Amino acid sequence: MNRKTVYLETFGCQMNELDSQLVMGELRRLGYDESSDPERADILLYNTCSVRDNAEQKVRSRLGELRIRKESDPDIVVAVLGCMAERDGADMLKRFPVVDVLCGPAELDKLPALLDNAARTGSGAQIALQGDASRRSATLAAAQDSLEMLDLSRAVSPHDHDGSAYVRITRGCNKFCTYCVVPHTRGAEIHRPPDHIVDECKRLADAGVVEVTLLGQTVNHYRYEHGAAITLGGIEQPQKGRSYQGGHRRDPFAGTTTTTFADLLKRIHDEVPAIQRLRFVTSYPRDFGDDVLEVIRDSPRICRYLHIPAQSGSDAVLKRMNRGYTVAEYLDFIDRARAFLDQPEIGRPLMLAGDIIAGFCGETEEDHNATRALLERAQYKNCFIFKYSPRPGTTAYDRLPDDVPEDVKRRRCNDLLALQQSISDTISRAQIGRTLEVFVQGVSQRERKRQKASAGGSIALTVGGRPANETRVVEKPTESIQMTGRTEGDLIVVFDCPADASPAELIGRTLPIRIDSASTLTMSGTLASRSAAY
Ligand code: SAH
Ligand code: SF4
Ligand code: F3S
Repeated sequence: MNRKTVYLETFGCQMNELDSQLVMGELRRLGYDESSDPERADILLYNTCSVRDNAEQKVRSRLGELRIRKESDPDIVVAVLGCMAERDGADMLKRFPVVDVLCGPAELDKLPALLDNAARTGSGAQIALQGDASRRSATLAAAQDSLEMLDLSRAVSPHDHDGSAYVRITRGCNKFCTYCVVPHTRGAEIHRPPDHIVDECKRLADAGVVEVTLLGQTVNHYRYEHGAAITLGGIEQPQKGRSYQGGHRRDPFAGTTTTTFADLLKRIHDEVPAIQRLRFVTSYPRDFGDDVLEVIRDSPRICRYLHIPAQSGSDAVLKRMNRGYTVAEYLDFIDRARAFLDQPEIGRPLMLAGDIIAGFCGETEEDHNATRALLERAQYKNCFIFKYSPRPGTTAYDRLPDDVPEDVKRRRCNDLLALQQSISDTISRAQIGRTLEVFVQGVSQRERKRQKASAGGSIALTVGGRPANETRVVEKPTESIQMTGRTEGDLIVVFDCPADASPAELIGRTLPIRIDSASTLTMSGTLASRSAAY
């Protein structure tokens, strides 16, 4: 039998990117081939996002285009995975009969079986959705059992990463912000056992990964109670979220039989020293204890970077969003984080990133101005700013009128984007003269273009932790090669590879770079200490 070829396209957040990597890894192991060309694939997978309407719109247009292809090629299998499958459910099958398989984000371990059935029976859609299962305690254990399988089955080889990897620590979300579809698509918050997480980090490090980003929708709510674990099939299962709450400065369970978020960070940092950079996203602006900030401060390989969305700078809007904090509390937290972690004098400034929703229900001009003030005060290095998009099934959709006119939403969104751009500029420029540790990822975009233009020239395209022997310098270049990398705060830095070094030996290393100039998105510098470097 011919091997089947799979095309996989991913929309949405890092959680989806990780799911796609895990799904593709599993399919490759089962003998499927991957293709980057949908025209040549037998199986087309779309891992979808529902967070805003335009994310869904992209998928709808893909499915629309596939109708014609399917008429001439009825044997292709079309599968919609992820949050949109979960949200739209069987409705999607009615609107898009080209869809053969629907698979929610919590059911992805079942995908190979669904694809098999779809190819064999050739009729009737194959469906695996969670529905409300994860919020009903009777079925919680079963839901958790299958949830853990996908992550546990992760196989890591030195060839399928670029030095960087995501590791899930928490699934789902219990916050129910009124605008947000995620708790409905990803289910209840559950925390993975710390041993599984540490093991996964070790296996990644053994395969050459040097940078790990821990993932969770409210990642700092991680908390695992030992002894309360459910064991199924001999495997300890993830635990329903019981994150600590109430504005404590410190997780009150620290030092007991509970693994707190601070404990988990410290364990990974101390037990897997080969991971040079440890990050985590996305933080929730409440319940962030000093214990976590202390661990970050005292662990040289944990990045001084927090993605901590505020969503709005107005208390009235935050209340309607059900965010559970005030602007003053938010600002208090970022001041506290800066007091612990912002140390530009030793080359370790704290970088913050944020998210803002423009034009949420009932937002006035005064609320908008309050958000402007918050941006000025927070000084994010970058901020994701989106117009409010009403999502069916959410509380805001059902109960709050979407009363900010489209043109006003657009104006406010653009206004905030322009303001943020000038703030990002200022932050970039403030780095000039500093020496920052830069994790070298490969040759820069500009270098690739230059090399392409002068075809036959030398090129070292390899990124991250891939083995150096994959990098071939064909011919000694006449000009120096421009390299690119990132700081622990996720700032992009380019610098010239010194004439007496080869790009391959710099890739995957962390080097001190003195920043000479800056634009909004990229800083440019020079290797500061050659002896330390190579
Ligand atoms: N768990 C993360 C965010 C996950 S969704 C957190 O709470 O911070 C990513 C971002 O999408 C959110 O931070 C929010 O800014 C945006 N978003 C979510 N729902 C939205 C909606 N209905 N309209 C516009 N933006 C939305
Ligand atoms: Fe959505 Fe709020 Fe959960 Fe973030 S915390 S995923 S915005 S419900
Ligand atoms: Fe989108 Fe689902 Fe992520 S809705 S943002 S893919 S959790």
